[in-house]
Amino acid sequence: MMRDTIVGRIPNMTSGRGARSRRKGDAKNIIEIRNLVKDYPLGSTTVHALRRMDLDIQEGDFLSIVGPSGSGKTTLLNVIGCIDHATDGSVKVGGTEITTLDDRQITDMRLHRIGFIFQTFNLIPVLDVRENVEFPLLLMKTMSKTEVRTRAEKLIDEVGLTEFVDHRPAELSGGQRQRVAIARALVTNPDIVLADEPTANLDSVTGAQILDLMRTMNKIEKTTFIFSTHDANVLKYARDIIKIKDGQIVKG
Ligand SMILES: Nc1ncnc2c1ncn2[C@@H]1O[C@H](COP(=O)(O)OP(=O)(O)OP(=O)(O)O)[C@@H](O)[C@H]1O
Ligand SMILES: [Mg+2]
Repeated sequence: MMRDTIVGRIPNMTSGRGARSRRKGDAKNIIEIRNLVKDYPLGSTTVHALRRMDLDIQEGDFLSIVGPSGSGKTTLLNVIGCIDHATDGSVKVGGTEITTLDDRQITDMRLHRIGFIFQTFNLIPVLDVRENVEFPLLLMKTMSKTEVRTRAEKLIDEVGLTEFVDHRPAELSGGQRQRVAIARALVTNPDIVLADEPTANLDSVTGAQILDLMRTMNKIEKTTFIFSTHDANVLKYARDIIKIKDGQIVKG
């Protein structure tokens, strides 16, 4: 079967030199997907959510996945993020084959190497901004309290929320909550950040600001971002776009 490649490259982005030169030079694939199949049993039938998909994603990319409702965007992100199991095929994240990991290895992968940003923010309501961002670092148990605080405050500063560190999520706007989620996703220095429709619950201006911030963080932290969207307004922030339909990548 022919390998699909990323289509719809957008020229003239204000992309960081680092990311571009990495692409030109020793551009490395952070994700390699081969023959990926995901079936869901549904009553007496089977839903073929991903149909033998092949995809390479380069380190440092800022990639948008677009496609109609039901095309498989969430399924693809969930398989890459070890939230859902592949039915068949191979998925390598940073060289690690994830389809054969055991539960402990999956937990490890999700804690150390993958950051998530959710449509509904998913912050912990009883924790303030600082505590929400510190939370994954405390789970990792690899840093002292002081190191955790310093790292969290660095990320909070980068997303522009220093004056809100003591606020709880309910005291923040939707856009500010998504900024906290971005800081939380990046605080562990993951290889990739996955975001399923991160702007769906935001107005279009705020959504564009959030994508702009994600793009900035992609440059600062050199983290690969993959996000799905329905919103044509935010597509211009993508560095690359893949289109999917009926569980397959379509060209053009
Ligand atoms: N748990 C499940 N059980 C059965 N079918 C499922 C399940 N999850 C997803 N599907 C089906 O798999 C296909 C792909 O769904 P998916 O959620 O990945 O699409 P999507 O592109 O994210 O859609 P949307 O834009 O609406 O979020 C759809 O046909 C969907 O109905
Ligand atoms: Mg979806």
